[in-house]
Amino acid sequence: LLTLIIADAALETVPKELWGHSAVKRHAESKGKEPGEILLDRSYHHSAMLRLKDHGRRGRPDLIHLALLEATSTPLYKEGGLRIYIHTVAGLAIEIKGGVRTPKSFFRFEGLFEELMKKGEVVSGRRPLIRVWRASFKELLGRVKPSITIGLSRIGRPKSLEEIAAELSSAVRPTLVVGGFPRGHFTEHTSAHLDRLYSISRMPLEANVVIARAIYEYEKITLRRTLQA
Ligand SMILES: C[S@@+](CC[C@H](N)C(=O)[O-])C[C@H]1O[C@@H](n2cnc3c(N)ncnc32)[C@H](O)[C@@H]1O
Repeated sequence: LLTLIIADAALETVPKELWGHSAVKRHAESKGKEPGEILLDRSYHHSAMLRLKDHGRRGRPDLIHLALLEATSTPLYKEGGLRIYIHTVAGLAIEIKGGVRTPKSFFRFEGLFEELMKKGEVVSGRRPLIRVWRASFKELLGRVKPSITIGLSRIGRPKSLEEIAAELSSAVRPTLVVGGFPRGHFTEHTSAHLDRLYSISRMPLEANVVIARAIYEYEKITLRRTLQA
């Protein structure tokens, strides 16, 4: 079972200090919600966000949408071989249970995550689908209990994805960490807990591309093993 963590993810509700800003108030009103109930989104809140610490790395729910859509569409996830967590810039851990079908429309994704942030979980019937709780990256790892934690970053040690997938698949509880932010690198809180940091290309790539490729390489080893057994 592979665990994927989308770390330092630029996904959060509008923080309190921006609730009074006109762009935020207008946007929330147009959605019939309170400012604290909507997702921080650079496309709408750019001017307000300039006041925020680390604003260049925040307010990109679209990146998380694409990354999650990619991960939950893979055969590995559909076969029950992939556990997915998101760890956000605001220090929240989100667990995506098995069988979640990420909405293809961003509008619906946004609605789903706004509901999650308000209620703490999203259920289908009685079955919990997505859950959020406050936890540091270290605490999240305490729950995942990885035997190896491999982070991917353009500034890591060059290694092919085939080799990385082989290393992951030979571990008992492998965990792969991909950044959910638009620019920069993992925060100290995250990078301090990575056992390895690998680069798969000299080019900076989008997280969704990295996730799709990494999972495919892992599938080629592990799903083939399952099919042969
Ligand atoms: C949009 S990038 C973040 C920007 C960052 N400057 C970078 O290039 O790594 C999102 C994530 O994709 C992964 N990624 C992007 N390019 C990569 C590369 N060349 N090698 C390994 N991982 C990469 C990393 O996990 C990164 O945090």
